[in-house]
Amino acid sequence: MICLTAILMGYFLGSFPTGYLLGIWLAGIDLRLLGSGSTGATNVLRHIGLKASIAVFLVDVLKGAISVLLPQLFFRNEIPIDMQDWCVIMAGIAALIGHIWPIWLKGKGGKAVATSFGVLLGLKGFVALACLGIFLTCFSISGTVSISSLLAGSALPILILRQYAVSDDILKPSYLSLSILTSTVVIWRHRDNIRRLMTGIEPQIKLKNNKY
Ligand code: G3P
Repeated sequence: MICLTAILMGYFLGSFPTGYLLGIWLAGIDLRLLGSGSTGATNVLRHIGLKASIAVFLVDVLKGAISVLLPQLFFRNEIPIDMQDWCVIMAGIAALIGHIWPIWLKGKGGKAVATSFGVLLGLKGFVALACLGIFLTCFSISGTVSISSLLAGSALPILILRQYAVSDDILKPSYLSLSILTSTVVIWRHRDNIRRLMTGIEPQIKLKNNKY
């Protein structure tokens, strides 16, 4: 029961439509109908601006982090010991599902990059920072958010395996499953971006006339 509560909380936290609400509030626009159609920070950057994009990114990261920190901090002792890791991870996955398919927006949300980063921060801080490092390095070279997200997302299972390899901990199937699932979801959510990248029409992020 307590595990189900954590999962439901994860879903509802993840489904908070940060980008959509800021779009309506600040610019009177529905981001689902513009640009990539995503409600994430990149589409906010294109259609609203840098400050709003940073705000959306931070809130979306926070949604993911809180969804796994709450069960770890408050419910852990009430969850059977063999279920604890799975329960926390399911709450994190629920947050990703909520972000991608928010009930409030008829299932049209974001691509779960920022929220995945938040979930990882709450579970495996070093791995999250390594993903961020890959993202920033790739972005500084390519200027394309989607390539950077795809590369960081694809590297995640390898980084998890490496982290266990260099520590004394035994590899937990729950963490490996989360990393593979997250990586797959991020790639799958970027399938339109992949098509655009292959045809050379994926937009880069560039400042032009004070607009991105
Ligand atoms: O985090 C999402 C980003 O990788 C791509 O966003 O709006 O260009 O599809 P977008």
